[in-house]
Amino acid sequence: MIKVSPSIMCADFSRLGAEIKKLEKAGADLFHFDIMDGCFVPNITMGPLVLKALRDKTSLPFDAHLMVCQPEKIVKMFIESGSNIITLHIETIFFPYRLIRELKKEKVKVGIAINPATPVFHIEPLLPEIDMVLVMAVEPGFAGGSFIPAVVSKIRKIKEMVERGRLNVEIGVDGGVNEKTLPILVEAGANILIGGSTSIFPEGKIRLSAIKDMKGKWLKR
Ligand code: DX5
Ligand code: ZN
Repeated sequence: MIKVSPSIMCADFSRLGAEIKKLEKAGADLFHFDIMDGCFVPNITMGPLVLKALRDKTSLPFDAHLMVCQPEKIVKMFIESGSNIITLHIETIFFPYRLIRELKKEKVKVGIAINPATPVFHIEPLLPEIDMVLVMAVEPGFAGGSFIPAVVSKIRKIKEMVERGRLNVEIGVDGGVNEKTLPILVEAGANILIGGSTSIFPEGKIRLSAIKDMKGKWLKR
């Protein structure tokens, strides 16, 4: 099943509550929060207080995509803020089994994000432990980054691993998902599509119709 996850860092920060309600009505399946700390990536976005303030605006799941150094120090705050999925970058964790198992005890889903240049074998051993792989199709840190076509074969490889292991792991793709790239990414095996600056939020505006298009019209090449 195709799921659309609007990237909240691309929304209008002066009216996030209203935007979330509109996005839910337009067919969003979950919300993607890009958490950046100025350490792992050269940008700073939002912290757990923002998620907490938005938590009662929708009942849809919140995915906290943690682009931070030492995520183990802050995961608890994001769970307390109402995140349902905690997505950790493989490049930021030294003891992934320990952290994933701790998160699972807190009854949240766990995603592992992987940068464009990180080989898939880095995450392969973790697949039986997690709920989602988030494949970065751009270098993380900013909306509107340039799409890296090599990630398509990476998605295909992850899909094969998931199928071979009969695992219940969803594959998300983050960055550069638009009308042109979407059918290729879905064909390769992605089912969670992060909607950012080239789909749902073009030129800083909200385009609600893109959510339906991402699940229908844009799938057909
Ligand atoms: C990039 C973020 C993405 C970003 C996607 O570092 O993780 O979630 O908002 O936006 P676009 O679609 O603009 O690449
Ligand atoms: Zn993201």
